[in-house]
Amino acid sequence: MEKKAELHYEGKVFEIPVVTGTEQENALDISKLREQSGLITLDRGFKNTGSCKSAITFLNGEEGILRYRGYSIEELAEKSSFLEVSFLLIYGELPTQEELAKYTNDIDIHTLVHEDVKSILDGYPSKAHPMGVLSSLVSALTAFYPKSIDPNRSQEQINGTIIRFLAKLPTLAAWSFKNRVRQPIVYPQNGLSYTENFLHMMFSLPTNNDKVNPVVSNALDKLLILHADHEQNCSASTVRIVGSSHASLYASVSAGIAALWGPLHGGANQAVIEMLEEIKADGGDVSKYIAKAKDKSDSFRLMGFGHRVYKNFDPRATIIKKAADDVLKELGVSDPVLDIAMELEKVALNDEYFKTRGLYPNVDFYSGIIYRALGIPTDMFTVMFAIGRLPGWIAQWKEMRESGEPIGRPRQVYTGATERAYINMENR
Ligand code: CMC
Repeated sequence: MEKKAELHYEGKVFEIPVVTGTEQENALDISKLREQSGLITLDRGFKNTGSCKSAITFLNGEEGILRYRGYSIEELAEKSSFLEVSFLLIYGELPTQEELAKYTNDIDIHTLVHEDVKSILDGYPSKAHPMGVLSSLVSALTAFYPKSIDPNRSQEQINGTIIRFLAKLPTLAAWSFKNRVRQPIVYPQNGLSYTENFLHMMFSLPTNNDKVNPVVSNALDKLLILHADHEQNCSASTVRIVGSSHASLYASVSAGIAALWGPLHGGANQAVIEMLEEIKADGGDVSKYIAKAKDKSDSFRLMGFGHRVYKNFDPRATIIKKAADDVLKELGVSDPVLDIAMELEKVALNDEYFKTRGLYPNVDFYSGIIYRALGIPTDMFTVMFAIGRLPGWIAQWKEMRESGEPIGRPRQVYTGATERAYINMENR
């Protein structure tokens, strides 16, 4: 039976249909609300607003469940490769052996970027943050592939854009790093795995063809899987809303990269390490920083703690914490900030302030520690997140286009001045 809710307002009753998802989550469908009642809803930060129906990722924050297309994140992180997971997210099913071989090969042969990208890179100062560079280089891809600007092309042509994008993002990311350290760029090498190729472009010099350490590439592959999608978060919503104006895939994702950069979202991984370093330099007094985080007159927040949706634990953080232990052990790295991180976690988890607000370590609390152990510089951490999140952004953009979503255009409750007469300059 169709479920309905009732809204009683100013002596009238309005029926509101209830939509139920496959995991039995219910939502009020208010798409006719204003038409019927003259009311809109107000929900700052969209804390209670579903912006779309989506079949990509399921997340239950209370129980700490995360699934891509029905498969648990724990199983995917253990058994899949990042490319398999990207295929799953974008096309809806795990690839067969033949499909994966073709997909891998298609990506492999598109990893090179146009030589003119180098002259764009040359224009950036070396201090340029790699996230800003990456976002603009992704937008610049529209200049090299002008036909991709039209999102109404055939499925085959859109697919070409998707493959090109997956193939080229690691190249652009590694080159933005090379620009940062003023080293010559390294060209992609076909035949390496997705993560090996990225690490090769990051750390090999044109003159030394060092082999990529498999411990490092496996750990990185797992991290990319954990970051691959997270339903309607800030950057995915950005991608969908930008794309809803029929902006191209490259333009929409470029905006998503900018959204990810902020320290409350993906930029938290860089902010966590900077915070841990600050605590270390300040004598390692964890309780001082816990007190700062609880002090409402202090803007300091414990970076890597809390999540809009997870109020119990972040399943990605559980996997990452274990991976961090393994990687540090296998690489024989001892990182003093890890001790501070563990101390901070222990104190916060037993503190009433954090317990009552459901604040737990999130995915970014430990990811920076692994990235450091893998030799990735701090300001590249959020770029790593972006590489991992690309399949999710693509899947969200594709689903939004294929389901013919209307342009995203929220309303507001206006609180400014009511109509008033213009004041001439001499009277101001
Ligand atoms: N440290 C101290 N207090 C916090 C923190 C924190 N990290 N996070 C939330 N709070 C407090 C907040 O002050 C508020 O307290 P009160 O109820 O007394 O006003 C309460 O907890 C609820 O916080 P909120 O800001 O209303 O929650 P939100 O859902 O709007 O924000 C968040 C979620 C992730 C932005 C926030 O927890 C935060 O700023 N965390 C630190 C940044 C971070 O680690 N971000 C990465 C998120 S995971 C990666 C990703 O997927 O993006």
